[in-house]
Amino acid sequence: MESSAAVRDRGFGKTLRRDRWWVPPLSVALGFAFFGAYATVAIFQGGNYFADPYLSPFYSPCIAASCPEEIRLLGIEWWPLSPAILMMGVILGFRGTCYYYRKAYYRAYFLDPPACAVGEFRGDRYSGETKLPWVLQNLHRYFLYASIVIWLFLTYDTFHGFFFDDGFGVGVGSLVLLVNLVLLSGYWFGCHSLRHLIGGNVDCYSCALGGKARYKAWKGVSWFNKRHMSWAWLSLGFVCATDLYIRLVAMGVVRDPRLF
Ligand code: FES
Repeated sequence: MESSAAVRDRGFGKTLRRDRWWVPPLSVALGFAFFGAYATVAIFQGGNYFADPYLSPFYSPCIAASCPEEIRLLGIEWWPLSPAILMMGVILGFRGTCYYYRKAYYRAYFLDPPACAVGEFRGDRYSGETKLPWVLQNLHRYFLYASIVIWLFLTYDTFHGFFFDDGFGVGVGSLVLLVNLVLLSGYWFGCHSLRHLIGGNVDCYSCALGGKARYKAWKGVSWFNKRHMSWAWLSLGFVCATDLYIRLVAMGVVRDPRLF
């Protein structure tokens, strides 16, 4: 009987597998297409992203001159397009070079390979991430550093979402922003580059400066790292849901109930 590797090498889609191996890549392809389409429309639309005191996470930090005064951080005059586009590079770069997302979209869109032990679309012409443009995936750690700044702004925006014209309060939107921050933080804390930075690059904790604390932090990050795929999907879906909620409130389609 032919080995699994021999069958796989016979060509695209060839496999000894009898399970529905095509379901995960197909689900990923549809999921990315759906959330990608929503995010693109939300980002380029350029309006209804602020319903005082809630700011859509796609538009944070708001640094164009067209941003509402209450949330404008800078006043970049020369930018005529949607303010969200100014920060898009960091967000797309961070998610697009994420180790989990890379695996997912290589399988779902490039079929390279479509699943374990299944024949590849490009056969043995695959050269990994050693040539342009894929070698740029190695910039992930730098996108991580840049995303720390955005994460700080999102934390501030969540805090701001609890302060209304009449003072402190809790609206459904405040809780939506809080859940969004928790999910984004869970995704961020599980980053492989962060794990390496915190302790993955240490050979001997007892010899390293602050080794005990680093080991504890590394264990914590490792917990999130093991579940990185789940945090990636939950945070991706919820960031779109958060934008949608704030958009509907800003448009007057939904009334934001005050709970406190
Ligand atoms: Fe996924 Fe860094 S590896 S965010």
